[in-house]
Amino acid sequence: MTSVLPDKDTVIAEARAPAAVLVDAPRPVQRPAQQPPMRQLREQREALQSQILAGRNEAVERQHALGKRTARERLGHLLDEGSFIEIDMYRRNRAAHGLKVNGSRPHTDGVVAGSGTIEGRRVFVYAQDFAIFGGSLGEAHAAKIYKAMDLALATGCPLIGLNDSGGARIQEGVVALDAYGGIFRRHVQASGVIPQICVVLGPCAGGAAYSPALCDFTFMVRQTAQMYLTGPDVVAAVTGEQVTHEELGGAAVHAQRSGVATFVYDDEESCLQDVRYLVAMLPGNNLDPPPAAPARGATADERPRLAEIVPHEPNKAYDMRCVVAELVDDGEFLELHEDWAKNVICALARIDGEVVGIVGNQPIVLAGALDSAASQKAARFVRFCDAFGIPLVTLVDVPGFLPGTDQEFGGIIRHGAKLLYAYCEATVPRIQVILRKAYGGAYIVMDSRSIGADLSLAWPTNEIAVMGAEAAVNVIFRKELAATADSARLRSELVCEYMEKLVHPYYSAELGLVDDVIDPVDTRSAVASGLAMLRGKRKAPPQRKHGNMPL
Ligand code: HXC
Repeated sequence: MTSVLPDKDTVIAEARAPAAVLVDAPRPVQRPAQQPPMRQLREQREALQSQILAGRNEAVERQHALGKRTARERLGHLLDEGSFIEIDMYRRNRAAHGLKVNGSRPHTDGVVAGSGTIEGRRVFVYAQDFAIFGGSLGEAHAAKIYKAMDLALATGCPLIGLNDSGGARIQEGVVALDAYGGIFRRHVQASGVIPQICVVLGPCAGGAAYSPALCDFTFMVRQTAQMYLTGPDVVAAVTGEQVTHEELGGAAVHAQRSGVATFVYDDEESCLQDVRYLVAMLPGNNLDPPPAAPARGATADERPRLAEIVPHEPNKAYDMRCVVAELVDDGEFLELHEDWAKNVICALARIDGEVVGIVGNQPIVLAGALDSAASQKAARFVRFCDAFGIPLVTLVDVPGFLPGTDQEFGGIIRHGAKLLYAYCEATVPRIQVILRKAYGGAYIVMDSRSIGADLSLAWPTNEIAVMGAEAAVNVIFRKELAATADSARLRSELVCEYMEKLVHPYYSAELGLVDDVIDPVDTRSAVASGLAMLRGKRKAPPQRKHGNMPL
């Protein structure tokens, strides 16, 4: 076929020629430089790629000397072998604004972004590269993260960010701040739609610290990872406090005190290994079910050790994690915030193959009483499980809310309301198991039937009431006790009467507030049967823009 279009060389020659020449003079015969052959182009591309993949020697050595891996090594540990697909490898900063960074425009702009698989399931990832501009975030760097976030949301896959960054790239000025805003907005838009995981593997300064706070799970490594809004130098200048990076924002601080870190590790390898473990339990998005394992026949599985673990005496301590281990498949569970608000435990596990979220009071810490931190911890977990269709199993053994000025002044009312709100709003299958006691407001808040539990099970040894017998008798029989000469005898009779009439689980069961009183050994099978019964649960939230949960 003959083409009527001008040939490519003529078009190029015309475009390059000055206008006057085109009008007045005969066309110059100007051939473009010969295109190099494909083989040479391929070699050039491969050389550039291997240069980008290798990174600068001294920067790689510096990372290793700090006990850290490079961005690409980390992705290698995180993803299934050979599954990584990189996007924007050649991206560079425009150097069109702000101060020049030593005139330097390295490829990748300090972040490696793309997609890969974990146990065969797709995830989107970005890994900041501290070796380039300290992993700081500028326009091009952020644009790559946007791509990974947008694709994760569009395809309904989890997003994992490996953070190692000096924060906003100082040389780019307000452009870097604007770039952070775009990331935060995307985190919020993706919240409750896809799981978002942040892994802090180095400094996470300034703006960099808000991604961990906005994600569903934050992982940190001891000694090498730190998070803070303002670093030690600024702290010293403003407040006069002298503090090291680790003291200010190390893993211990965020795992034990601030509650920002969900999981902490001694090294990057075990940290990334657990990210894989977590991802294997999560759905890709809010419309997919969590990945189920084959059923174990837990519906006929007696656990005699349960009755031994939990003492009869209501005030004797025991470790609720031992109860959890008896209830879940293979005794295996992933505990969140292990070192923060330890009076409540939150864990992901499987029961008869089905992924569940477990919330439990922890009697070995503060006798399992709920305080502000425990309420916040459990509330966020309940909301995560609800957003991603993970059924909730709540193990109750609670003496009440922690009393005291510390708690009241610190806003226990507001924080306790968060947990209340989270449960009231949750539409996933919800099973409450009352092991030994459930008193007062804490009984209501720990997923009682009145706030929407679908099934409430109680052990026969239970005490469920507004308050303990002694305290109750002192309040309601104050006058009678004051009037009698033998107040000790009267008190003891009244306490017995209170216990017999109001406190045992059959009183709650007669009223339908407890659905069944179960033998402790049958707890695993009762929960597994309950989960099977509730599997088809559908409950639409009311039409509204959003509620106004206490924050
Ligand atoms: C540009 C940065 C950078 C940044 C580090 N670098 N942070 N470049 N912008 N924010 C560069 C350094 O210049 C250096 O470049 C290289 O990264 C390594 O940094 P070092 O300081 O040598 O490393 P180290 O001693 O390990 O200290 C790491 C650090 C420190 C603690 C992160 O670099 C630091 O304090 N950086 C500044 C942190 C900060 O204040 N960021 C801005 C926050 S404000 P060369 O060329 O020498 O290798 C912010 C606003 C957003 O983020 C708020 C949104 C809510």
